[in-house]
Amino acid sequence: MSKLLQIQHLSIAPQHQPARLLVHDVSLLVEAGKTTCVVGESGSGKSLTALSIMGLLSPQLQRLQGDIIFQGQSLAALSAEEMRQIRGCQIGMIFQEPMTSLNPVLTIGFQISEPLSVHLGLKGQALQDKVAELLTQVGIPAERANAYPDELSGGQRQRVMIAMSIACRPAMLIADEPTTALDVTVQAQILKLLDDLKHQMNMGMLLITHDFGVVADVADHVVVMFQGQIVEQGPVNTVLNRPKHPYTKALLACVPDAEGKKQLKPMDYSWLQEAASKPTPRKKTASNGKVSGVRA
Ligand SMILES: Nc1ncnc2c1ncn2[C@@H]1O[C@H](COP(=O)(O)OP(=O)(O)OP(=O)(O)O)[C@@H](O)[C@H]1O
Ligand SMILES: [Mg+2]
Repeated sequence: MSKLLQIQHLSIAPQHQPARLLVHDVSLLVEAGKTTCVVGESGSGKSLTALSIMGLLSPQLQRLQGDIIFQGQSLAALSAEEMRQIRGCQIGMIFQEPMTSLNPVLTIGFQISEPLSVHLGLKGQALQDKVAELLTQVGIPAERANAYPDELSGGQRQRVMIAMSIACRPAMLIADEPTTALDVTVQAQILKLLDDLKHQMNMGMLLITHDFGVVADVADHVVVMFQGQIVEQGPVNTVLNRPKHPYTKALLACVPDAEGKKQLKPMDYSWLQEAASKPTPRKKTASNGKVSGVRA
């Protein structure tokens, strides 16, 4: 087992409300060549967890505690310049909506070439060749390098984002709901592309989703988040086949099966009321944090 990235006891809160924990005591592991999926409903803290790895938390937020260890090194100890290097080169990130991440007035070839010239110092023909190679690798004909983002389909734009994120051959890729804006067929193609690239490049992947179908397809390890906390995590087969936490069970009960035979249940939160009536077993992590624990 190769520990590529470890998040240890991460807690995040707004600057002016340190008691309002948006992420609370989150610890997880990403291994080289494996996919850790973070799953949970909207607002459960998935994106904040990912952004804190990249050092991209909004200035209105603060990291109250916790460490992020990447390739044996604490990211908290790095200077802004060192963090920029890690961000551009060693950890790639793909966001949910490619149109907001791509610049509409620059060609896709130019945008893919940027990390290559900034971080790898490529120029001229070598740069153009590398852009063509990356486009081909993500399934876009190399001659489309002169296209602008609005000339591409949603799936192609997401492929461009993937090309940019893998340009410097990162050791790790973070993908924050990379397929939510796409139809199911294109979603399957993009997930397959990400999975293939992961194997080819032996990348560790942190994939954020709220879709258990995606988890079943690509995850090695699953982390289930609810209201800023991890309620359950483990190997994909264990979590999907023998979920322990009522929230995981309730999430799984909402997922249709391929044959459409399963009787779907609406999301059940009754366990939460039950849990709230019991004393909290979790420790406070912020010095002044008033945290109500999320329990099974
Ligand atoms: N800059 C901010 N200031 C205050 N609260 C914030 C800020 N950014 C996020 N939050 C809050 O933090 C919580 C977690 O947000 P986050 O974006 O991590 O959720 P998520 O699990 O990624 O949800 P989704 O599936 O909708 O993307 C939410 O309640 C959100 O409103
Ligand atoms: Mg999010």
